[in-house]
Amino acid sequence: MSIETPEQLEALRAAGRVVADAIRAMRSRALAGVSTKELDEVAARVFARAGARSGPQLDYGFPGTTCISVNDQAVHGIPSKRRLKDGDLVKLDVTAELDGFYADACVSVPVGRARGSDIRLANASRQALNSGLRAARAGTPINEIGRAVETTVVSFGYAVCRDLTGHGIGRRIHEEPNVPSFYHPRFDQPLTEGLVITIEPIIAAGNAEVSDAGDGWTLKTRDGSRAAHFEHTIVITDETPIILTA
Ligand code: MF3
Ligand code: CO
Ligand code: CO
Repeated sequence: MSIETPEQLEALRAAGRVVADAIRAMRSRALAGVSTKELDEVAARVFARAGARSGPQLDYGFPGTTCISVNDQAVHGIPSKRRLKDGDLVKLDVTAELDGFYADACVSVPVGRARGSDIRLANASRQALNSGLRAARAGTPINEIGRAVETTVVSFGYAVCRDLTGHGIGRRIHEEPNVPSFYHPRFDQPLTEGLVITIEPIIAAGNAEVSDAGDGWTLKTRDGSRAAHFEHTIVITDETPIILTA
Protein backbone atom coordinates (compact mmCIF):
# COMPACT_ATOMS: atom_id res chain seq x y z
CA MET A 1 0.00 0.00 0.00
CA SER A 2 0.94 3.62 -0.19
CA ILE A 3 0.23 5.68 2.92
CA GLU A 4 -2.14 8.57 2.32
CA THR A 5 -3.14 9.69 5.83
CA PRO A 6 -1.47 10.14 9.23
CA GLU A 7 -4.00 7.64 10.62
CA GLN A 8 -2.75 4.95 8.24
CA LEU A 9 0.84 5.62 9.32
CA GLU A 10 -0.17 5.33 12.99
CA ALA A 11 -2.01 2.06 12.34
CA LEU A 12 1.04 0.62 10.56
CA ARG A 13 3.33 1.81 13.36
CA ALA A 14 1.12 -0.02 15.85
CA ALA A 15 1.29 -3.25 13.81
CA GLY A 16 5.07 -2.82 13.54
CA ARG A 17 5.38 -2.46 17.32
CA VAL A 18 3.55 -5.75 17.87
CA VAL A 19 5.97 -7.48 15.49
CA ALA A 20 9.00 -5.96 17.23
CA ASP A 21 7.62 -6.90 20.66
CA ALA A 22 6.95 -10.49 19.58
CA ILE A 23 10.44 -10.87 18.11
CA ARG A 24 12.03 -9.44 21.27
CA ALA A 25 10.10 -11.89 23.46
CA MET A 26 10.85 -14.85 21.19
CA ARG A 27 14.57 -14.21 20.88
CA SER A 28 15.04 -14.11 24.65
CA ARG A 29 13.47 -17.62 24.75
CA ALA A 30 15.46 -19.03 21.80
CA LEU A 31 17.48 -21.38 24.02
CA ALA A 32 18.63 -24.98 23.77
CA GLY A 33 15.83 -27.37 24.80
CA VAL A 34 12.99 -25.01 23.84
CA SER A 35 10.73 -26.30 21.04
CA THR A 36 9.88 -24.11 18.07
CA LYS A 37 6.19 -24.56 19.02
CA GLU A 38 6.94 -23.12 22.46
CA LEU A 39 8.66 -20.15 20.79
CA ASP A 40 5.62 -19.70 18.55
CA GLU A 41 3.39 -19.63 21.64
CA VAL A 42 5.49 -16.75 23.01
CA ALA A 43 4.54 -14.76 19.90
CA ALA A 44 0.91 -15.89 20.11
CA ARG A 45 0.69 -14.46 23.65
CA VAL A 46 2.15 -11.11 22.55
CA PHE A 47 -0.31 -11.00 19.64
CA ALA A 48 -3.29 -11.88 21.88
CA ARG A 49 -2.44 -9.19 24.42
CA ALA A 50 -2.22 -6.59 21.61
CA GLY A 51 -5.37 -7.76 19.82
CA ALA A 52 -3.28 -8.74 16.77
CA ARG A 53 -3.60 -11.79 14.55
CA SER A 54 -1.11 -13.94 12.63
CA GLY A 55 -0.70 -12.66 9.07
CA PRO A 56 0.42 -16.04 7.62
CA GLN A 57 -2.58 -17.78 9.27
CA LEU A 58 -5.00 -15.12 8.10
CA ASP A 59 -3.80 -14.79 4.50
CA TYR A 60 -2.57 -18.31 3.73
CA GLY A 61 -3.90 -20.68 6.42
CA PHE A 62 -0.33 -21.22 7.69
CA PRO A 63 -0.27 -23.82 10.52
CA GLY A 64 1.34 -21.59 13.15
CA THR A 65 1.42 -18.02 14.38
CA THR A 66 4.93 -17.32 13.07
CA CYS A 67 7.39 -18.94 10.67
CA ILE A 68 10.34 -20.53 12.49
CA SER A 69 13.09 -21.97 10.30
CA VAL A 70 16.19 -23.77 11.63
CA ASN A 71 19.65 -24.17 10.02
CA ASP A 72 19.21 -25.25 6.36
CA GLN A 73 15.52 -24.31 6.48
CA ALA A 74 15.42 -20.92 4.74
CA VAL A 75 11.80 -19.79 5.18
CA HIS A 76 8.25 -20.77 6.20
CA GLY A 77 9.27 -23.36 8.80
CA ILE A 78 6.28 -24.74 10.73
CA PRO A 79 6.50 -24.46 14.54
CA SER A 80 6.79 -28.02 15.88
CA LYS A 81 8.01 -30.26 18.71
CA ARG A 82 11.56 -29.89 17.34
CA ARG A 83 13.76 -28.69 20.19
CA LEU A 84 16.45 -26.12 19.52
CA LYS A 85 20.01 -27.35 20.09
CA ASP A 86 23.22 -25.64 21.03
CA GLY A 87 24.75 -24.33 17.77
CA ASP A 88 21.48 -24.09 15.81
CA LEU A 89 20.74 -20.98 13.73
CA VAL A 90 17.05 -20.08 14.04
CA LYS A 91 15.11 -17.57 11.93
CA LEU A 92 12.10 -15.90 13.59
CA ASP A 93 9.87 -14.47 10.84
CA VAL A 94 6.89 -12.63 12.32
CA THR A 95 3.95 -11.00 10.51
CA ALA A 96 1.16 -9.37 12.52
CA GLU A 97 -2.20 -8.00 11.43
CA LEU A 98 -3.63 -5.29 13.68
CA ASP A 99 -6.90 -3.52 12.80
CA GLY A 100 -6.45 -4.50 9.14
CA PHE A 101 -2.83 -3.36 8.83
CA TYR A 102 0.18 -5.68 8.42
CA ALA A 103 3.86 -5.53 9.35
CA ASP A 104 6.53 -8.19 8.79
CA ALA A 105 10.05 -8.68 10.17
CA CYS A 106 12.63 -11.40 10.68
CA VAL A 107 15.81 -11.95 12.67
CA SER A 108 18.37 -14.76 12.64
CA VAL A 109 19.45 -15.89 16.11
CA PRO A 110 22.20 -18.36 17.07
CA VAL A 111 21.21 -20.77 19.85
CA GLY A 112 23.63 -21.16 22.75
CA ARG A 113 27.27 -21.28 21.71
CA ALA A 114 27.21 -20.06 18.11
CA ARG A 115 29.47 -21.26 15.32
CA GLY A 116 31.71 -18.48 13.99
CA SER A 117 30.47 -19.27 10.49
CA ASP A 118 26.84 -18.66 11.55
CA ILE A 119 27.67 -15.36 13.20
CA ARG A 120 29.34 -14.26 9.97
CA LEU A 121 26.41 -15.48 7.83
CA ALA A 122 23.81 -13.73 10.00
CA ASN A 123 25.95 -10.61 10.01
CA ALA A 124 26.06 -10.62 6.20
CA SER A 125 22.26 -10.76 5.97
CA ARG A 126 21.85 -7.99 8.57
CA GLN A 127 24.39 -5.75 6.84
CA ALA A 128 22.78 -6.47 3.45
CA LEU A 129 19.43 -5.34 4.88
CA ASN A 130 21.11 -2.16 6.13
CA SER A 131 22.59 -1.56 2.66
CA GLY A 132 19.10 -1.95 1.18
CA LEU A 133 17.66 0.50 3.72
CA ARG A 134 20.30 3.09 2.78
CA ALA A 135 19.40 2.72 -0.91
CA ALA A 136 15.64 2.97 -0.36
CA ARG A 137 14.29 6.45 -0.99
CA ALA A 138 11.69 8.19 -3.16
CA GLY A 139 12.80 8.59 -6.78
CA THR A 140 15.32 5.74 -6.70
CA PRO A 141 14.55 2.76 -8.96
CA ILE A 142 13.44 -0.25 -6.95
CA ASN A 143 16.24 -2.39 -8.37
CA GLU A 144 18.82 -0.19 -6.64
CA ILE A 145 17.68 -1.83 -3.40
CA GLY A 146 18.49 -5.25 -4.84
CA ARG A 147 21.81 -4.02 -6.19
CA ALA A 148 22.84 -2.70 -2.76
CA VAL A 149 21.65 -5.82 -0.94
CA GLU A 150 23.35 -8.28 -3.28
CA THR A 151 26.61 -6.33 -3.44
CA THR A 152 26.92 -6.68 0.33
CA VAL A 153 25.99 -10.38 0.31
CA VAL A 154 28.49 -11.15 -2.46
CA SER A 155 31.23 -9.15 -0.70
CA PHE A 156 30.95 -11.70 2.14
CA GLY A 157 31.21 -14.59 -0.36
CA TYR A 158 27.58 -15.67 0.10
CA ALA A 159 24.64 -15.92 -2.29
CA VAL A 160 21.08 -14.57 -2.35
CA CYS A 161 18.17 -17.05 -2.55
CA ARG A 162 16.69 -15.52 -5.69
CA ASP A 163 13.35 -17.31 -5.44
CA LEU A 164 12.52 -15.30 -2.31
CA THR A 165 11.91 -11.55 -2.49
CA GLY A 166 10.78 -8.62 -0.43
CA HIS A 167 7.36 -7.22 -1.22
CA GLY A 168 4.82 -4.49 -0.87
CA ILE A 169 2.75 -4.86 2.31
CA GLY A 170 0.07 -3.00 4.29
CA ARG A 171 -3.47 -4.34 3.89
CA ARG A 172 -2.23 -7.87 3.09
CA ILE A 173 1.13 -9.59 3.66
CA HIS A 174 2.12 -9.73 0.02
CA GLU A 175 1.28 -6.77 -2.20
CA GLU A 176 2.85 -5.13 -5.22
CA PRO A 177 5.67 -4.46 -5.91
CA ASN A 178 8.19 -7.30 -5.73
CA VAL A 179 11.43 -6.22 -4.06
CA PRO A 180 14.16 -8.64 -5.18
CA SER A 181 17.36 -8.89 -3.14
CA PHE A 182 19.39 -8.77 -6.37
CA TYR A 183 19.72 -6.42 -9.34
CA HIS A 184 17.24 -7.02 -12.15
CA PRO A 185 16.97 -4.49 -15.01
CA ARG A 186 13.18 -4.91 -15.32
CA PHE A 187 12.54 -3.63 -11.80
CA ASP A 188 13.32 -0.02 -12.66
CA GLN A 189 10.14 1.71 -11.47
CA PRO A 190 10.95 4.56 -9.06
CA LEU A 191 10.10 4.21 -5.39
CA THR A 192 7.42 6.67 -4.30
CA GLU A 193 6.86 8.53 -1.06
CA GLY A 194 4.56 6.61 1.32
CA LEU A 195 5.09 3.22 -0.32
CA VAL A 196 5.23 0.41 2.28
CA ILE A 197 7.59 -2.48 1.48
CA THR A 198 9.77 -5.09 3.08
CA ILE A 199 13.46 -5.62 2.47
CA GLU A 200 14.54 -9.16 3.31
CA PRO A 201 17.80 -10.73 2.17
CA ILE A 202 17.48 -14.51 2.47
CA ILE A 203 20.98 -15.84 1.91
CA ALA A 204 22.82 -19.16 2.00
CA ALA A 205 26.34 -20.09 3.04
CA GLY A 206 26.62 -22.44 0.04
CA ASN A 207 24.38 -22.84 -3.00
CA ALA A 208 21.34 -20.58 -2.69
CA GLU A 209 18.86 -22.83 -4.49
CA VAL A 210 15.93 -23.78 -2.29
CA SER A 211 13.41 -26.61 -2.51
CA ASP A 212 10.34 -27.90 -0.73
CA ALA A 213 11.14 -29.71 2.51
CA GLY A 214 8.12 -32.02 2.04
CA ASP A 215 5.64 -30.52 4.53
CA GLY A 216 3.99 -28.19 2.03
CA TRP A 217 5.45 -25.03 3.58
CA THR A 218 9.11 -25.18 4.55
CA LEU A 219 11.73 -24.25 1.96
CA LYS A 220 15.29 -25.42 2.63
CA THR A 221 18.57 -25.11 0.78
CA ARG A 222 19.10 -27.94 -1.71
CA ASP A 223 22.70 -28.46 -0.62
CA GLY A 224 21.94 -28.41 3.12
CA SER A 225 23.96 -25.26 3.73
CA ARG A 226 22.72 -22.86 6.38
CA ALA A 227 20.52 -19.87 5.58
CA ALA A 228 20.15 -16.49 7.28
CA HIS A 229 17.38 -13.90 6.96
CA PHE A 230 16.74 -10.41 8.30
CA GLU A 231 13.69 -8.34 7.39
CA HIS A 232 12.11 -4.98 8.15
CA THR A 233 8.91 -3.31 7.01
CA ILE A 234 9.58 0.28 5.95
CA VAL A 235 7.90 3.38 4.56
CA ILE A 236 9.61 5.16 1.66
CA THR A 237 10.27 8.87 2.19
CA ASP A 238 12.33 11.65 0.61
CA GLU A 239 15.24 10.69 2.80
CA THR A 240 15.97 7.76 5.09
CA PRO A 241 13.00 5.35 5.31
CA ILE A 242 10.76 4.96 8.37
CA ILE A 243 11.42 1.51 9.86
CA LEU A 244 8.07 0.28 11.22
CA THR A 245 9.41 -2.90 12.81
CA ALA A 246 12.49 -1.52 14.64
N1 MF3 B 1 6.84 -13.54 6.55
C1 MF3 B 1 6.85 -14.07 5.21
C2 MF3 B 1 7.49 -13.04 4.30
O1 MF3 B 1 8.41 -12.38 4.72
C3 MF3 B 1 5.48 -14.45 4.76
C4 MF3 B 1 5.05 -15.77 5.32
S1 MF3 B 1 3.47 -16.17 4.81
C5 MF3 B 1 3.45 -17.86 4.74
O2 MF3 B 1 7.14 -12.83 3.17
F1 MF3 B 1 2.22 -18.18 4.80
F2 MF3 B 1 4.02 -18.26 3.63
F3 MF3 B 1 4.11 -18.37 5.76
CO1 CO C 1 8.55 -12.13 6.86
CO1 CO D 1 8.19 -10.46 4.08
